[in-house]
Formats: sequence, structure tokens, C-alpha cells
Amino acid sequence: MYRTHNNGALRAENINETVTLAGWVQKSRDKGFMIWVDLRDRYGITQLIFDEERTPKAVMDLAKTMGREFVIQVTGKVIERESKNPKMPTGDVELLVEKLEILNEAKTPPFTIEDATDGGEDLRMKYRYLDIRRNPVKEKLIFRHKVSIAVRNYLSEQGFIEVETPYLIKSTPEGARDFVVPSRMNEGQFYALPQSPQTFKQLLMVGGMDKYFQIVKCFRDEDLRADRQPEFTQIDCEMAFVEQEDILNIFEGLTKHLLKEVVGFEIESFPRMTYDEAMAKYGNDKPDIRFGMEFGELNAVAQHKDFNVFNSAELVVGIAVPGGASYTRKEIDKLIDWVKRPQVGALGMVYVKCNEDGSFKSSVDKFYDQEDLAKWAEATGAQPGDLICVLSGETSKTRAQLSALRMELATQLGLRKSDEFAPLWVVDFPLLEWDEETERYHAMHHPFTSPKPGQMELLDTKPGEVKANAYDLVLNGNEIGGGSIRIHDKEIQSKMFDYLGFTKEEAQAQFGFLMDAFQYGAPPHGGLAFGLDRLVAILGGQETIRDFIAFPKNNAGRDVMIDAPAKIDAAQLEELNLKITL
Ligand code: AMO
Repeated sequence: MYRTHNNGALRAENINETVTLAGWVQKSRDKGFMIWVDLRDRYGITQLIFDEERTPKAVMDLAKTMGREFVIQVTGKVIERESKNPKMPTGDVELLVEKLEILNEAKTPPFTIEDATDGGEDLRMKYRYLDIRRNPVKEKLIFRHKVSIAVRNYLSEQGFIEVETPYLIKSTPEGARDFVVPSRMNEGQFYALPQSPQTFKQLLMVGGMDKYFQIVKCFRDEDLRADRQPEFTQIDCEMAFVEQEDILNIFEGLTKHLLKEVVGFEIESFPRMTYDEAMAKYGNDKPDIRFGMEFGELNAVAQHKDFNVFNSAELVVGIAVPGGASYTRKEIDKLIDWVKRPQVGALGMVYVKCNEDGSFKSSVDKFYDQEDLAKWAEATGAQPGDLICVLSGETSKTRAQLSALRMELATQLGLRKSDEFAPLWVVDFPLLEWDEETERYHAMHHPFTSPKPGQMELLDTKPGEVKANAYDLVLNGNEIGGGSIRIHDKEIQSKMFDYLGFTKEEAQAQFGFLMDAFQYGAPPHGGLAFGLDRLVAILGGQETIRDFIAFPKNNAGRDVMIDAPAKIDAAQLEELNLKITL
């Protein structure tokens, strides 16, 4: 037996017991006649003591040869610590070592394996297995496990069946590029790794599974950001004989359950907001509603004066920054510079200070009097002491810019509290979105999403206005899930592919299997998928998903630990019938 206890287990009750422990040497303090060692494993740290007077000489000598991260096994007696450490669960006791075995030596690690480390990001990624020994990383993986288990149990109790779907498939359009895998047995042909199991879960509904879920890897070759990885995990779900309302209710239940079970947070309200409302109020389809600062449209009260910038704008819109009236000129200039950065792209910013005495001081006093500015304050909900920031221009750009400013200010003001959770559904998404590059409409969610009843006719006349039975779950300003009610009729699906620019042949070649299946009694169905990595990160109070993934890729899509992607040798290329000219 390697150990009788783990390193987080021993307490005062164990004093005088003889126990065996195993683990890694986190650090040791050698006073010559006495050596203290922090012995670590997944469960905690136990202090070992080697004492010249009480520990056999051979053990004492061996102990002096140990370095950091050596793997050892020790047997000894649990004794009371002279100076107790109330911060450690095992802080009342220490182990007086009688026997020591070095199970494996260790090279000196490239960074210190403690909560606060001296290792930079790149180094820690390269030696991720050492980073995982550190509490902050280890705890995130354990936290992820807890979320996954809670999800599985909840969905299973609700009657969902977990079914595995294949990874070697054909392109599933979710808006990203595919990762492809060459087929050795089928010369010149390729599998695509699933961007999601979308078509398979729909086929499972045709197969009568009724309620499906899967915690599943998805693969998307897209540009990476803090909340995106090329391979990530979805909690993927589908249900038959449901309407949007049924799906929202089930997953609202799951979200509440997770918040309560995993972080002990009770949700008071779970609002629903249409896409149009979210865009008008927050300039964003994934608004953070932990704080206010809602948009106030000012066209009616700011146009038709002599200020041409506003007169010529499609949209004039502002937000009230709580307490912002006290900003200095310098601080305001900094905000103006911030919105003018290329990443945000505003041409300028108008501001109004709402003084405590009820008067206003603005950057456009030449054009607007106190009565005008009072109307701006009313429209933005500004109180005395606030600062109104106003942007103008083309509607969608201006909204995006003001949304960016709203988030930045909220971060600066500490309004985005990581231990507060505000979920919401954004519903009634547009079916299509205009793509500047290809100059045509694309499915905003995916081509299997159904339009709202009675909207199909609008497709030919006002395609941009067609609304879909599609919804997103937003948590603290992050899109953590999305789904839709699907098309389950072959004719409509075929028309949709047609509309999206697939020729009959392309549609048949890519999705013939799905449309064929629809001819054999496809039930009405719908579903959604949560991004597990994002969900876990946000529940854990963070927004970077990489930390919650055991072996993540860096921003260039590389695994720097195993050094992938990598070249393959000529023989392998030949076997796959791939010719690469370098
Ligand atoms: P969608 O494409 O919206 O929907 O994806 C669902 C959720 O997956 C997460 N997500 C990601 N997480 C990390 N890295 C990525 N690269 C990444 N891309 C997406 C997001 C997102 O909300 N088949 C549909 C679902 C359905 O209609 O049922 C789908 O995949 O949190």
C-alpha cells in the first residue's frame, strides 16, 4: 500500500497514529538538525518533520538529498505541531518521519509549483503537467468536473439520454472552417471533424430518441480569443415534440440548478428579451445585465438643432455613467481617446456632466440649452452626479461602439462582479445576416433553424427582417448557449438551402441524408447547445476558458507542450495519397 491517508486528511484526532503518506516535495527547510518538508498531493499539504534526535540517521541523510518535486513515500507518527497553522486544514499536526523512500527523483522544475508562481504563461503551457500540480489550475479542473457531473445528473433525471455521435463526419455548417482528416482507404477524400453534432442529433430525433444530450468535443477552425478554442466542449441537447417555450424552461431549470449546486447562487429573475430589444437597449446581442447603464436614444431630442454631426447621423445614443460628473477633463479625454481607438472606431464623443445642483455642462453647450440637456438626462436615466456619454453615426456601428464603452466603463467602475450572476434569454433572432465579404445572406444560427410561423413569405421581399425560432442563453455578458426550433419538413429545408445559395446538387451532396430522413416521419424538434468551457469559466468567476481546459491550445492554435500541429513524414503522406510541395 502506497499510503494510508492523503495529504489533506490528517487532523488532531490522528495524533499518535502511525501513517504512511506519499506525494511531491513542494518545499523543504533544512536547519541541519531538523528538516521540514511540505508534502503535496491533489488533496492538500502535510508538513513532515525529520529530526536528528528522533529520526534514524540513514533517513535523515536520505532526506538531505531530496529536491523540489521529488516523489516520496514516508511513514511516521502524527504529532502535534508546536506552531500551528490555522490556514491549513492539516495545520494542527505534522508527521515525524521514521521511514523514507524516494519513489522518483525530479529535475528542478522550470517554475515554482506554488499558488503564486514565477512561471510566465508560455512556460506554464509548455509544462502544463507541472502547472496542473498548482492549486489554482487543479481546482479549476475539479470545478469543471463538478459542473459536468451536475449537468449529467440533472439532464439524466429529466429523461435525457446521452448518445455519442461520430467525430469522423462531413461538414456541418456552424459558421467556421472545418478541420479535415484525410481518408487512407478512400483516396482523395476527407472527413471533417464536427463543428457540432447538429445533424446527428436531429437524426436521433427522427430515430425517436425523444430527449438527447451529449457532453461532446466540437472542432472549429476559427480565429481564437479568450472565449474560443479550436476544440471545445458542448453540452449538446435536442428534444422532440417541443416548442421554444419547453426548451427554454428545461434549460432555465438547468442553469438555476447549476448556479445553486455549484456556486450556491439563487437566481431571482431570468428575463427574456428579444434580439431587437437587446440591440436597442445594450447595443449587443449578449448584454451584461448585472448593471444598468441602458442606452437612451436621443434622435428625437438631439436632432434638428444646429449640430450637424447629430443631424446627419442615423442614430444618436447615450448612456449615463454613475458618478461620472466628477471626472476630470483629463479622465474624459481618456475616454474619448478610448472610443477613438481603431478597435472601437468612434469618431468622437459628446458628453454632458449632470451637476449635483441639477444643472448641466456639456461639450456641445453651443448648440443645446439646459432644457435640451434635461431631455437627454431623462432619456438616458441620468441622475445628478452622472456623466452622459453620447455617440452617433450609422446605427449598428454606433451601437457596437457604445456597447464597448458601456462594458469598459462597467469594468472600470467594478460593476462586473464575478460572484454575481445574471442570466437571460435573448429570443427572436433574425434568421439571416448579411455578409459583407460574400455579399449575400447567411444563416445567422445555422441552416436548420426554422423561421417564425408566417415569416417564410418575407424571405423573398425583406429577408433581413425574417425572425427565427432561435434563442441564446446569455450569462454575465457572455453567450453561453444557443439553439433553435428546427425545420422538420423536407420541402422547407430544401427551400432554405436554396435561399442560402446552395445549388440543388450541393444541398443533396452535403445534406441529402438529412432531407431523406425528413421523409420518414421527422417529429417537430428543437434543441440547444451550451458551451461547457464558457459556462464553467463564468461560474468560476472568469472569462478566459483556457484556464478551465486541462490541455488548451495557445492563440495560434498550437499545443506547445506536445508541439502540435506538426509535419508528418513522407511515408505517411504517401499512404494518405497527399502530395505536399514545400
Ligand atoms: P453554437 O454555434 O451557438 O450552436 O454553439 C453553442 C455554444 O458553444 C460555445 N462555443 C464555443 N466555445 C468555445 N470555443 C469555441 N470556438 C466556441 N464556439 C461556440 C458557445 C456557443 O453558445 N449546433 C448549435 C446548437 C443548436 O442549435 O442546438 C451550435 O453549435 O458558448
